[in-house]
Amino acid sequence: MSKVYVFDHPLIQHKLTYIRNKETGTKEFRELVDEVAALMAYEITRDMPLQEVEVETPVAKCKSYLLAGKKIGLVPILRAGLGMVDGILKLIPAAKVGHVGLYRDPDTLEPVEYYVKLPSDIEERDFIVIDPMLATGGSAVAAIHSLKKRGASNMKLMCLIAAPEGIERVQEEHPDVDIYVASVDEKLNEKGYIVPGLGDAGDRLFGTK
Ligand code: PRP
Ligand code: URA
Repeated sequence: MSKVYVFDHPLIQHKLTYIRNKETGTKEFRELVDEVAALMAYEITRDMPLQEVEVETPVAKCKSYLLAGKKIGLVPILRAGLGMVDGILKLIPAAKVGHVGLYRDPDTLEPVEYYVKLPSDIEERDFIVIDPMLATGGSAVAAIHSLKKRGASNMKLMCLIAAPEGIERVQEEHPDVDIYVASVDEKLNEKGYIVPGLGDAGDRLFGTK
C-alpha cells in the first residue's frame, strides 16, 4: 500500500487558504499555485539520495554532497497540472518535462486521453506526476498507467488537494505510487468536485469559464 504525505508546512497552508478563496482572481491564483508548488517540491525531494564528493573552497578541501541517483522527470496532467510546473522547476531546473493530456468527461467523469509526450530517456528517470486536484482519481490513475506502459517504473504523485475517494483509487490501482498533498478534503459532491476544494483548478488558473 502506498503512503500519503500531507504537507502541513505553515507557508503551504497559508497560501492554500488564499488559493481556496473564491474571491482570489486568476493572476493571484496562478502566482500562489506556483509558490505552493515550489514549496511542495522542496518537501517532496527530502529523500533524494546524495553522494559524497570532495570540494576545494578558497580556504581548504572538504567533503561535501551532490545529488545522486536517477534524474527527475515532471509530468503535469494537462491542463491544470501546468500551473505547478514552473514552481517545481525553480528548485529542480534540470528536470525534463513530459505531458499527459487528459480531461474528465463531464457526464461519466471518466478521463479521456488526448495527448502524451514523455522524455525519451524515460527508464533513466524518477517521475513526479503533477495535478492540483485528485478527485475521483480517474485522471491520476490513467496518467500513471500511461507512464508505466511506456517504461516508467518509479514515480510520485503530487497534488494540492485530494478527496479521500481519489486517494483510495490511486492506492488500489497503483500501490507503488506514494501521494503527496497539501490537504485531504472531506468528500466529492454529486458532480465529482472536491468539497470544499477550490473549484475548477484549470478554469481558475487560465481564466476560462
Ligand atoms: C481536473 C483536474 C484533474 C481532474 C481531477 O481536470 O485538473 O486532472 O480534473 O479529477 P479526477 O480525479 O476525478 O479525474 P479537468 O478534467 O477539469 O481538465 P482541465 O485540467 O483541462 O481543466
Ligand atoms: N477537478 C477540479 O478542477 N476540481 C475539482 O474539485 C475536481 C476535479
